[in-house]
Amino acid sequence: MTDRNATLTFSDGSAPVTFPILSGTIGPDVIDIRTLYGKTGKFTYDPGFLSTASCNSTITFIDGDKGELLYRGYPIEELATKCDFMEVCHLLLYGELPDVAQKKDFTGRVTKHTMVNEQMQFFLRGFRRDAHPMSVMTGLVGALSAFYPDSINLHDAHQRDISAIRLIAKMPTLVAMAYKYSVGQPYMYPRNDLSYAANFMRMMFATPCEDYKPNEVLVRAMDRIFTLHADHEQNASTSTVRLCASSGTNPFAAIAAGVACLWGPAHGGANEACLAMLGDIQANGGVAKIGEFITKVKDKNSSVKLMGFGHRVYKNYDPRAKLMRETCHEVLSELGLHDDPLFKLAMSLEKIALEDDYFVSRKLYPNVDYYSGIVQKAIGIPVPLFTAIFALARTVGWIAQLNEMIADPEYKIGRPRQLYTGATRRTVMPLAQRS
Ligand code: SDX
Repeated sequence: MTDRNATLTFSDGSAPVTFPILSGTIGPDVIDIRTLYGKTGKFTYDPGFLSTASCNSTITFIDGDKGELLYRGYPIEELATKCDFMEVCHLLLYGELPDVAQKKDFTGRVTKHTMVNEQMQFFLRGFRRDAHPMSVMTGLVGALSAFYPDSINLHDAHQRDISAIRLIAKMPTLVAMAYKYSVGQPYMYPRNDLSYAANFMRMMFATPCEDYKPNEVLVRAMDRIFTLHADHEQNASTSTVRLCASSGTNPFAAIAAGVACLWGPAHGGANEACLAMLGDIQANGGVAKIGEFITKVKDKNSSVKLMGFGHRVYKNYDPRAKLMRETCHEVLSELGLHDDPLFKLAMSLEKIALEDDYFVSRKLYPNVDYYSGIVQKAIGIPVPLFTAIFALARTVGWIAQLNEMIADPEYKIGRPRQLYTGATRRTVMPLAQRS
């Protein structure tokens, strides 16, 4: 607790009210206004939650001004280069990086749950082959809740843990199935002798007709993409998962809600939108036409945005974008695509934007989505699948945040209020008398 406080005074002569100021280990203090309505009969008003801390969390910290991202205190730059995604999952879920034995045990538990019930194939058959993968994933993840009655009680820590393992383990299988269904190829079953990322690459790109040897550079790049997208504090989809789970629904349904929210182009759908934007510029003249495009972006009457730029929290370079650009270089070099026109266009566009006052004055820098699309396209991931891979990676973060909320004895069902500006009370007129 704290002896520091904030006092609210009112110009209408109402008595001032005082609220405690709470401090975290790092980052901004908060004013604890939980008693505001009881003391004043007034709500706070903060659409978009620009100034609202929705919870007390120990998982991820972002310093937007410094461009810093920590998972349980470890900088993303160190995790992305010194660990693999299974170690990062263990860290996010249980608070510590695993030792050798713990990593072996955790990875072994995930590996044993990578298959999905054969019935899941019938859900896929209900979709058109050209359905967007995120519509398929929203359906499939929600459908998982029908298959595991032994692990849907959110208030049982053991059931939360087994559903966490099941979700982390099955997301790659489901994403790969959504892809195979879209191209009319047979599903590839997971293999227990492959790493998490290698298993995903094989389920995506192998066929029953020949052996598939994963390319280690591409596997490492995929693993790093998973790590960079694993968690990100109280972003829109994580807040959706928390609010959904606060009703006590099962973990699979809550994660399906997160998948649905992530789909939006202002959020996880930005990598797909960013690649479409680069493709359009390329098709309309490439680097020579960047100036024309930037003019459109600055024109308030156009709805054109520089996709992959800007962030609600980062007002400096997104540290994940830097790492993603490095990964891009590695993959394009490995594949002999270092002259990839899209990558060169992205680099030129980034350079021009970072020197343009419109972006500098608004602190708009490349975010994680700016390069992730290019590297995934180079790996061979189809553009519509980018956000499904983002959802695959973010599943562990969503679960860790959900578990943290449910384990907090102070948690309640989330139920915001509103500023009502609609009609005052009025009487229903009989139909014949309505004009
Ligand atoms: C993710 O929250 C998270 O942590 C999300 C995420 C995660 O890991 O979970 O990091 C993943 O979603 C990354 C963001 C991906 N989205 C995009 O790349 C889409 C393009 N970006 C914008 O839509 C926008 O930047 C947002 C939505 C990301 C943030 O918007 P804000 O914080 O609400 O900022 P804003 O819309 O109030 O913009 C401030 C100004 C406005 O101009 P003015 O009204 O002041 O004149 O900046 C402009 C905006 O028009 N602006 C942009 C812009 N982003 C903001 N102008 C052109 N291009 C852009 N991309």
